[in-house]
Amino acid sequence: MGAMATKKPETSVDVESDDDVEHNHRPEPLEARDGSAAAALWSLNTRWRHINHGSFGAVPVFAQLRRMAYLQEAEAAPQRWFMAASTRVAQARTDLANFIGVDAEHFGFVPNASAGMTASIRALGLSAGDEILVTDHAYGAVAFSAKREARERGAKVRTVPIELDASADEVLAKLGKALAKKPAGLVIDASSSSTAREFPVAALAELAAKHGVPLLVDAAHAPGVKHRPAEGVAASAWVGNLHKFACGFRGTAVLVAEKGFAKNLYPVIDSWGMDEPFPSRFDFQGTLDYTPYLATVDAITGLEDRIGWDAIRAYIESLLDYSTEVVADALDAASGEESRVVVGMPAPGMRLLRLPGTLGATGPQANDVRQRITDELGFETQITNWRGTGYLRLAAHAYNSAEDYERFAEDVVPTLVSWSRQTYGHNPDAALAARTRSPSTAIPKPGSVRAESRPTLE
Ligand SMILES: Cc1ncc(COP(=O)(O)O)c(C=O)c1O
Repeated sequence: MGAMATKKPETSVDVESDDDVEHNHRPEPLEARDGSAAAALWSLNTRWRHINHGSFGAVPVFAQLRRMAYLQEAEAAPQRWFMAASTRVAQARTDLANFIGVDAEHFGFVPNASAGMTASIRALGLSAGDEILVTDHAYGAVAFSAKREARERGAKVRTVPIELDASADEVLAKLGKALAKKPAGLVIDASSSSTAREFPVAALAELAAKHGVPLLVDAAHAPGVKHRPAEGVAASAWVGNLHKFACGFRGTAVLVAEKGFAKNLYPVIDSWGMDEPFPSRFDFQGTLDYTPYLATVDAITGLEDRIGWDAIRAYIESLLDYSTEVVADALDAASGEESRVVVGMPAPGMRLLRLPGTLGATGPQANDVRQRITDELGFETQITNWRGTGYLRLAAHAYNSAEDYERFAEDVVPTLVSWSRQTYGHNPDAALAARTRSPSTAIPKPGSVRAESRPTLE
C-alpha cells in the first residue's frame, strides 16, 4: 500500500496480514434469501461486465416485468389509466416513505435529479445581485442550472473549492465562513459524482439554518446505498435518484422539501396540479409515463423481500473494499505510479482511483477512455475528470462479484497503462510533475469552468 493511502474507507471490513501485504476479505457472490445467486435477479448481458452501477443503475427482472404489466394496463384503457395516475403516484409516495426516511407528505416525485435540483434552484427566487454557492465537486449539469438561473435574474454563482481529502470538519469550517456572508443559497452534493466523496449534509443543514441560508442537497447517489437517506437532513430541499443504487427505473427521483421552502417549489412542468399544495402538485405533471414511478416501488420492495437492503449495503461495501485494493495494486504495479487517493469522506457504493499519467485529464478524453473500455475491453465503468486529473470510479451492487474486479485488474489495467503511455510517454515522474505544474490542475476561477474540464456525463 502506497504512502498516500493513509485513510481507509470508513466501511472497511476485517483485514488480515500476510507477508506484510494487506488483503481485505474476498467476498463470495451475494445470495438471495432463498440461497439462489443474487445476480440471477438481473438481466445484465455477460458480454460486458457492468461495474458502474453509480451512473445509470440496473433494474432487476421482476421489476421490469411489473413495469410491463403497468404499461399493458395503460395501453388497455389509456383514459382510465390517466384518470387514476395521480392517486397511484400518491400511493407510491406512501409506499416509499420509509425507504426515503421522511413522511409521504414531505416529498414528491420528479423525473430525475436534474429536474429536482432545477425546481429547487428556481424556488430560491434569486434577485439581482444575489450570490448562490456551489462547490467544485458539484455535478456539472446542476452547476449549469444554477448558472442559467443566476444569469436570468442578474445573480451570480460562486464556486467554493473543497480539497478532495477535506474532512467533515474542514468542509464545515470552509462552508461555514461562506454561509456567514449570507448567500442566497448553497448547493451541496451528498455524494459527489466526479470525486465519489460525501459531504456532511446533516451538519451543513444545521449550519445553513443558523445563517438563514437555504441549503439544496443533491443526493442523487444516496437512495439505496444509505439507510433512510433523507432522515435527519433538515435542508430546504433534498433530491435523490431512485434509478441508481435503489435499482428503480430511470426517470424516477424524489424531491424532499422543508415546509416553508415547499411553498415556492413547483415542478419544472406546470400542469393541472399547479394550485395544489406540495407535494401533490408533483403527483401529476401532464401526460407523462408514470409507470417508472409505480414499478420502482416494486423494485425496492422486491429487493427487500428477496435479498434485504441491509445485506445488499453490507455486501456492496465489503466488495468495494476488496476490489479497490485489487485494482489499485494492479494499476500501481503496471504504471509505477500511485493510484490510491485520500478521499476525505468516501461515498458509499463508489471508490475513486487515480488514472496513470495524464489519462482522462480532460472531460472529452475521460469520455473517450470510458467508451473504449466498453467497446474494446468489455467493461462498463466510469472514468471521471476533476481539476485536470482523470479518475477511475468503481461501483458495485448485489449482482457484482469479486471476479468482476479481478478480471478488470488483469484484462483492463495493462491496457489503461499502455494508453497512458501513448498519450504521455513512459515517464511517470514527468507526468506527475506536469500534473502539479499544469494550469489545468489549478482551482478554476469562479464561473470559469472550461468546457473540457466539465465532469463527465453519467
Ligand atoms: C451528483 C449528481 N447529481 C445529479 C445527477 C443528475 O442525475 P439525472 O441525470 O438523473 O438528472 C447525477 C447523475 O448522475 C449526479 O451524479
